[in-house]
Amino acid sequence: MPMPREEFLSSTWRDGIFDNKVLFCTGGAGTICSAQTRAFVALGGNACIIGRNVEKTERMAKDIATARAGAKVIGIGQVDVRDPQALQDAADRCAKELGGIDFCIAGAAGNFLAPMAQLSSNAFKTVMDIDALGSYNTAKATLPYLVESASKHKNTGKACPTGTGGRIIFVSATFHYTGKPLQAHVSAAKAAVDQISFSTSLEYGPLGVTSNVITPGPIANTEGMERLAKTDEETTRRSKTGIPIGRWGEVKEIADATVYLFSEAGGYVNGHALVVDGGAWRVAGGDMGGYQYPDFLLSGDMVSGVKGGRKSKL
Ligand code: COA
Repeated sequence: MPMPREEFLSSTWRDGIFDNKVLFCTGGAGTICSAQTRAFVALGGNACIIGRNVEKTERMAKDIATARAGAKVIGIGQVDVRDPQALQDAADRCAKELGGIDFCIAGAAGNFLAPMAQLSSNAFKTVMDIDALGSYNTAKATLPYLVESASKHKNTGKACPTGTGGRIIFVSATFHYTGKPLQAHVSAAKAAVDQISFSTSLEYGPLGVTSNVITPGPIANTEGMERLAKTDEETTRRSKTGIPIGRWGEVKEIADATVYLFSEAGGYVNGHALVVDGGAWRVAGGDMGGYQYPDFLLSGDMVSGVKGGRKSKL
C-alpha cells in the first residue's frame, strides 16, 4: 500500500538527490529498514532489500517501489545474513540488475527479551551470529562495490556533480552504553556491530567510503517495540515519560537520519554513532536522588529536604 510521504520522510530533503543510485539493505522488509529504504527510493534511488522470508521480502519490495514512479526495488528472500555466500550472491545480483551498489544498510537483526538464566548458549550465539556476524558479512559483500562507487563520487567537501556514493550505515542500539537487563545477548552483539562500523570507517575511509552507526531508540509502531516491551497503556505512558523528549520516535526520524548520512550534508561524518532516541539512553544516568524525572524539573520547585540544596531562589 502506498504510504503517505510525510510518514516516512520529512519535508527537509530535495527530490532527486539519490537519482541513479542503488541501496542494498539487509532486513529491508522490517519496519525501520523499510522506511529507510522507502525514503531513499522517494528521493530518486533504486534498491535491493534482503530478508529470510521470501513472501514478506518480495511484498515489501513492491510496496517500497510505490514511493516513486519508475522506481526499481528488488526483494531477495531466503537470504540469511549468517550465510556469507548467500549474501555475496545477493549483492552480486543487486549490482548486476541495478548497475552497482552505492549505499548499504546493515539492518538485519534478531532480538527477544530473556534473562541470562533463560538464555542458552545457542540463543546467545544466534543473536551474535545474526547481528554481529551478519553485519560483518554484509560489509564484506558490499564494500568492493562501495569502494567503486566512492571512486566515482568523490567526497571532497564540495558538491560532486554526480552526487554521493560509497557509504554504509549499521543499525545498532544503545543497550550496551549502559547495560540492560534481559538484553545480554543483544548488548554484546550491538557492541560488536558498532566496532565493525568503526573499523570500516578506519580501513575504508582512505578509499572514500564512510561508515556510520544509527542507533534508534524506542520507535512507535515497530516490530522491535512489539517484541521488546509490553504494550498496555500504563507501560507505554511510563516509557514515554522516561524519555527527555517525552514521546516515542517515528520511523521517519530514522529515515531522515539515514538520508542525512547518505547525502552531501553527511560527507564529513565518518566513524560516528548517531543516536536517534530523544535522549532516552542518557536517562539511565538521570537518577535525581529521589526527585521524579521529569516532573520535578518541569515543576520549577527548589531542591529541598537534602543537605546540598540551595538556600534561596536564583
Ligand atoms: N527466549 C530465550 N531463548 C530464545 C527465545 C526467547 N524468546 N527465542 C529463541 N530462543 C532460543 C531458542 O530456544 C534457540 O536456543 P536452543 O537451541 O538452546 O533452544 C535459539 O534461541 C535459536 O532459536 P531459533 O528459533 O532456532 O533461531 P532462529 O534463527 O530461527 O531465529 C531469533 C532467530 C531467535 C532471533 C528470532 O527471534 C528471529 O528470527 N528474530 C527476527 C526478527 C527480530 O528479532 N527482529 C528484531 C526486532 S528488534
